[in-house]
Amino acid sequence: MNTIVTGLQWGDEGKGKIVDYLTENTDVVVRGQGGNNAGHTVIARGEKYVLHLRPSGILWDGKLNVIGNGVVLDPAGLVAEIERIEGQGVAINPEKLLISDRAHVVLPLHKELDAAREAALGDRRIGTTKRGIGPTYADKVNRNGLRVADLFDEAFTRDTIALRTADANEILRRYELSTFDAGEQFDEVMRAFDRLRPHVANTIPVLHEAWKGGRNILFEGAQGTLLDIDFGTFPFVTSSNTTSGGCCTGSGLPPTAIDRVIGVCKAYTTRVGAGPFPSVDEGLSQYLHDLGREFGATTGRPRGCGWLDAVLLRQGCMINGATGLAVTNLDGLDDYETLRICTAYEIDGVRHDLPPADRHAWDRAKPVYEELPGWMSDTTGCTRYDQLPARALDYLGRLSELCDTPIQFVGVGPDRAQTLVATK
Ligand code: IMP
Repeated sequence: MNTIVTGLQWGDEGKGKIVDYLTENTDVVVRGQGGNNAGHTVIARGEKYVLHLRPSGILWDGKLNVIGNGVVLDPAGLVAEIERIEGQGVAINPEKLLISDRAHVVLPLHKELDAAREAALGDRRIGTTKRGIGPTYADKVNRNGLRVADLFDEAFTRDTIALRTADANEILRRYELSTFDAGEQFDEVMRAFDRLRPHVANTIPVLHEAWKGGRNILFEGAQGTLLDIDFGTFPFVTSSNTTSGGCCTGSGLPPTAIDRVIGVCKAYTTRVGAGPFPSVDEGLSQYLHDLGREFGATTGRPRGCGWLDAVLLRQGCMINGATGLAVTNLDGLDDYETLRICTAYEIDGVRHDLPPADRHAWDRAKPVYEELPGWMSDTTGCTRYDQLPARALDYLGRLSELCDTPIQFVGVGPDRAQTLVATK
C-alpha cells in the first residue's frame, strides 16, 4: 500500500503526526518537494522532535527515509538537523537516510537573495521563511542550479558557485546589501557535504525496487495545497508543487504507484506569512494563542487562525484526489461554544463554491458561514472514534459532506496515541 499524505490548507496541518502514526506499517518514507522551510513537530516516546528536511520516519528504527529529487537541499541545514537529532539519541546512517543525487542545492546566497527580495517587496512581501526556497527553485527552472550529484565534482562546483555568486552580488549591490565571497560559500557547502556524502544515491531504482517488492511507501507532503505554486493563493505560495502530483515528479515514482491519498487538515484553519485568508477570526486566534497553540515550528511566528473553510478544502480534495481526510487538532475547539464552517464565498454578490483565480477577488471574498454548536468537553482522553462527543461527530460529518471525502483519522492531542481511526 503506497500512501501520499498531503496538507489541504496552508501547511502546518499536523502532517508529521499523521505520517509518524502511519509509519508503523511503512517501510519507506519519502519527501518529494519543498526544503527546510517545512517544520514538523513530532512527539514520540514522550520526546519532542522538530524536523525540517528529513522525513519523519527518521524517528523509527528499520525504516528507510528518502529525500527525493524534487526537494531543495540546504547541506548545512540538514547536517545541523542530523546532529541535533543524533544528540537526542537517534543515530542517522545511510541505511536510514538516502538523498537523491538529483536534488538541487540551496546555497547561502539563495537565502540572502530570498531575504533581499522580501525586503524589496515591502508591503507586498510574501512572508517567506527566508530559507532560500524560491531562489533555489528559480535557478533549477532557469537551468543554472547546482545538483547534489554536481558536488562530487569540486572544480565544477567551485566554478558554478563563483558564477552564481557574481550574479547574486550584482543584485545585492543594487539593494545596497553586503556581498558574498564565492570561496567562503564553497567551503561552507563542501564542509557540510562531507557529512552527507555516504547518504547520496540514485534513489529512483531504490524506490522502484521497494514498490515492485511490495514494500509500503509513504509520501510525506510538505507545506499545503494552498501554498502550491499552481493551485495555491498565488503569489502568496511556496515555489514547488505541494499537492499529490508533486510527490510523483519529486521522487520518480509514477502515479500508478499510488494507492491512496490522505488529505490532512486542522479542525480549523491557520496561516503564517502574508496573503488571503477569508475565514480568519480575531477571537479564535486569541483563544488558541492563549492556550499556547499555533506558533510556527520553523520560525516561532504566531499563526493567524480562522474557521474551517470548506471552499478551500473542497478544491484541495479534488486536486489531490484525497481518498480520506485526517482532521487534526480537534481538541483545540473543545471549549468553544459556537463553531463556524465557511461553506462558500460571496464575491460581488455572486456565490462561489470554489476559490477564485483572480488575486484581487480574494480581497472582496466574504465567507458564507454555517454555525454549529460546540461540544464543550475534553476530547483529549478519547481513544476511539466512537467515543467522541456527538456534536464533535456532527461537526466532522458536516466537513466530510462538504468535501465529499470520508473522515479517516482524527487527532485529539500531540501524542502518537491520540490519533483516532474512523475508517481503515
Ligand atoms: P517559502 O516557502 O519560504 O518561500 O515561503 C512561501 C510561503 O510559504 C510563506 O507564506 C511561508 O510562510 C509559507 N510556508 C513555507 N513553508 C511552510 C510550512 O512548512 N508551513 C507553513 N507555511 C509555510
